Amino acid sequence: MPPPMPGQKLELPGVKYIIAVASGKGGVGKSTVAANLALALHMHGQRVGLMDADIYGPSVPMMFGLGLVDQTKTPFPIEKFGLSLMSMGFLVDPNQAIIWRGPKVAQAVGSFLGQINWGELDFLIIDLPPGTGDAQLTLSQAAPLTGALIVTQPAEVSLIDARKGVRMFEEVRVPILGIIENMSYLVATDGSKHTPFGSGGGKKLASEIGVPFLGEIPIDQMVSTCGDSGEPIVRKHPEHAVSKAYTELAATMLREVPKLTAAGLPAVDLG
Ligand SMILES: Nc1ncnc2c1ncn2[C@@H]1O[C@H](COP(=O)(O)OP(=O)(O)OP(=O)(O)O)[C@@H](O)[C@H]1O
Ligand SMILES: [Mg+2]
Repeated sequence: MPPPMPGQKLELPGVKYIIAVASGKGGVGKSTVAANLALALHMHGQRVGLMDADIYGPSVPMMFGLGLVDQTKTPFPIEKFGLSLMSMGFLVDPNQAIIWRGPKVAQAVGSFLGQINWGELDFLIIDLPPGTGDAQLTLSQAAPLTGALIVTQPAEVSLIDARKGVRMFEEVRVPILGIIENMSYLVATDGSKHTPFGSGGGKKLASEIGVPFLGEIPIDQMVSTCGDSGEPIVRKHPEHAVSKAYTELAATMLREVPKLTAAGLPAVDLG
């Protein structure tokens, strides 16, 4: 299948919901949220794919303990922990800088969607790169997205960038399914709760733009330790408080996404 022409929408008839995980800002935890949410949905019995659309800085290989893949031996997507995975990091050594211009990035993302046999999935979660540039825009236009989840941090300053992300999706008529607040609070060893990054930002943004606030994920060093060691926290420590927050988030999505899409939001293409 050739890469999509500008303005052309790809079709993924076997995939029920295609959901982009985005934020205007870098480093807020999009990739971590995308991976753990995908695993939590899988634990709820869903068939889930995770596509890493960050061509310059792929995160999926490290989070899933994977590296370069010999395509002649292992067909894409790669199966791990029950998920179907695709990432640029399977094709190119992450230490080798990719200096591609916009159109080539768009082409790569398009072929991840259109040329890979994702099979039958309930959810395809797409981990978007930071920012609101070409790659994000192309993907939002070329993929038949059900909607986008915006990840933000609780501080007011993070909201400025999150709003940019929201605006970008509005421009391309992709519905915002809801807001997820990451690094919301920290529970100290004595059980006390702290909010080093402020509080309330996610809820504020959700009410400001009139979308559901889907949940908050606490800060815990275990999250990054697990992510760096190749087994996300939801899979490695399913009983951990952070994992429980993801299980709840996944349950909320299972309840809300069908309702939202049934309500006839624009740009929905469920095949
Ligand atoms: N709830 C959390 N508690 C502790 N650490 C976290 C949490 N969420 C994410 N992190 C850590 O923060 C760092 C950034 O997370 P991540 O790579 O997921 O962000 P990102 O938004 O995808 O970044 P980028 O914009 O570069 O793609 C990682 O080291 C990750 O392990
Ligand atoms: Mg990322």
